[in-house]
Amino acid sequence: MSKPLLELRNLHAEAEGSSILRGVDLIVNEGEVHALMGPNGAGKSTLASVIMGHPGYKVTSGEILLKGENIATWTPDARARAGIFLAFQYPEAIGGVSVIQFLRQAIAARKGLDELSVLEVRLDLAEWMDRLGIDSAFAERHLNDGFSGGERKRNEVLQMALLDPVVALLDETDSGLDIDALRVVAKGVRTVREQHPAMGAVVVTHYVKLLDEIRPDFVHVLFDGQIVHSGGAELAEQIDHEGYDAWRPVSA
Ligand SMILES: Nc1ncnc2c1ncn2[C@@H]1O[C@H](COP(=O)(O)OP(=O)(O)O)[C@@H](O)[C@H]1O
Ligand SMILES: [Mg+2]
Repeated sequence: MSKPLLELRNLHAEAEGSSILRGVDLIVNEGEVHALMGPNGAGKSTLASVIMGHPGYKVTSGEILLKGENIATWTPDARARAGIFLAFQYPEAIGGVSVIQFLRQAIAARKGLDELSVLEVRLDLAEWMDRLGIDSAFAERHLNDGFSGGERKRNEVLQMALLDPVVALLDETDSGLDIDALRVVAKGVRTVREQHPAMGAVVVTHYVKLLDEIRPDFVHVLFDGQIVHSGGAELAEQIDHEGYDAWRPVSA
């Protein structure tokens, strides 16, 4: 069997001196989608940021292996080039940059090229917008400028589709997304998976409804910086009915 795409081994991380991740183990194999659930403040967004190499967090022990190589000290850029993709929870508006210009830069960076012509990107982009049912005018819109929740999600899904990640990390907002925006994500993940079957994904979400559509292979409960329970898709249903209390560690 080939090496896992992503493996976290006893990962500990802190921010501003306080420990947030307290020993996370996770294995994502080729083609697997893992859902990460857990109450507010459990460390879900931190985990995604730490995997991406966000400078605000310090890995104090443990390993982050990408196809067997420890990337825990790599820069975020190097990780992105190696195929880790993080869709940000609250993407900021970038004035004056259109969706297509932004994607052009992101794809060039992923491929290790200085530049990529708009023409080279446009063909792939048109194909993906068609697959995802996105209006062609969207590519010319300025990034996140007045984007609705659904449009921001479309932009993220487009990024994911075009960057062809080894492992995609999707961190869902805890609130403020309507059901249409969630459907965009769910449909997007399904469509990208069909085209890139080897991709691994870690989807952070509160919404069982989203998981109905994404159909994760595994569901993990993160509590106080540790994965306290893992199971199949049925675990999400159980959480939906019973909440997280059943898995609250004694110390938490
Ligand atoms: N940059 C940071 N500096 C200090 N504390 C942080 C930072 N980021 C997150 N935390 C703390 O870590 C805990 C986990 O936060 P977070 O990862 O955002 O949780 P979740 O995404 O599961 O809601 C919270 O107690 C939060 O206040
Ligand atoms: Mg979060």
